[in-house]
Formats: sequence, C-alpha cells, structure tokens
Amino acid sequence: MWADELAAGWLGVHLPRRWRHVQGVYERSRVADRLFSTGDADLLAAAGLVHDLGYAPELAVTGLHALDGARYLREVGAPERLCALVAHHSAAHLEAELRGMADELVDWNDERTPLRDALWWADMTTSPDGEVVTFEERAAEIQQRYGPDDVVSTFIQAARPELAAAVGRTEAQLRAAGIDYV
Ligand SMILES: [Fe+2]
Repeated sequence: MWADELAAGWLGVHLPRRWRHVQGVYERSRVADRLFSTGDADLLAAAGLVHDLGYAPELAVTGLHALDGARYLREVGAPERLCALVAHHSAAHLEAELRGMADELVDWNDERTPLRDALWWADMTTSPDGEVVTFEERAAEIQQRYGPDDVVSTFIQAARPELAAAVGRTEAQLRAAGIDYV
C-alpha cells in the first residue's frame, strides 16, 4: 500500500516511536473496518498510516502537524478526502485556533462522518508506542508528556469533549456490530 511506504519512509527512520504509534493506529483502524464499505475501510486504513506525517522534521513547516501533513499529501497528489481527514484529525481545528492558525484549515472540509470519528477513535485509543489504551489513558499521557505549559496540553483539555464524543460514537457502533475492540 502506498500509504504504508510513505509513512515508513517519513517516520520509520527518524521517528521510530511515532512510527510505532502509526502502525498501532493502522491496526486499530482495521478492527473497525467491518463498519465500512471496502473503499471506505481502505481510506480509513490509509488515513491511519499517514495522519501523523506532519511530524516528520522535513515536513514540519508550521508546527501544526495535521496541517503540515495534509499540505504535503496534497502536494504529492493524495485524494482530497484523505488530505481533509488528515487536516482535521483528532480535533486539529482546536489546536489550530490555539496556535493562531484557524484560517489555514478552511481549505479542507471536516466531513464529520462515522469514518472521520473512527480515525479519531483509532488515534485516541493508541499509545505513543502503538499499544491499545483507553481514551482517558491517552489524554492523561499526552498531558503528562508535554507538561502543563505546552499548547498541546491546553489543546487536549479543550478538545476532550469533542474527542470523547467521537470515541464514544465509534465504540457504540463497534459494540452494536459485535466487534471486540479492547
Ligand atoms: Fe496520532
């Protein structure tokens, strides 16, 4: 899969921990794939693989990794829907506001669909090392890792209700489909 090669190329060598996280998010997205058509399941898997490309040092231009990743993906001709999913993943619009970059994301539409929720769920229930965690554990770890004064900690507090809602909607769908996700 091209998304796999892209993510391995940009993250695998220089950001091995981020690469483990991304592989975990990919695995998580595969758990949810029965909720979607084959095309959408593949899109979700691809989004899981490329959602954090903007952390690659060579691609980190603005410091808002969702935006940097989406811009790079657009440059290399990735489908627009995939770029938009990356641009808005895991409540990026709130981090953009905190960084004074809210206008930069208007290029992309946040589709607010079950697929978008499932990407957020996969990201928010995968640890930095790629292990499955609860959303509460994930949010607590982010705050601890960045420390109280970092914009990311402020962001995760502000984003908590929105993230928890997306996680909750996806987990309700998984339960309804009889899919074991823990
Ligand atoms: Fe992530």
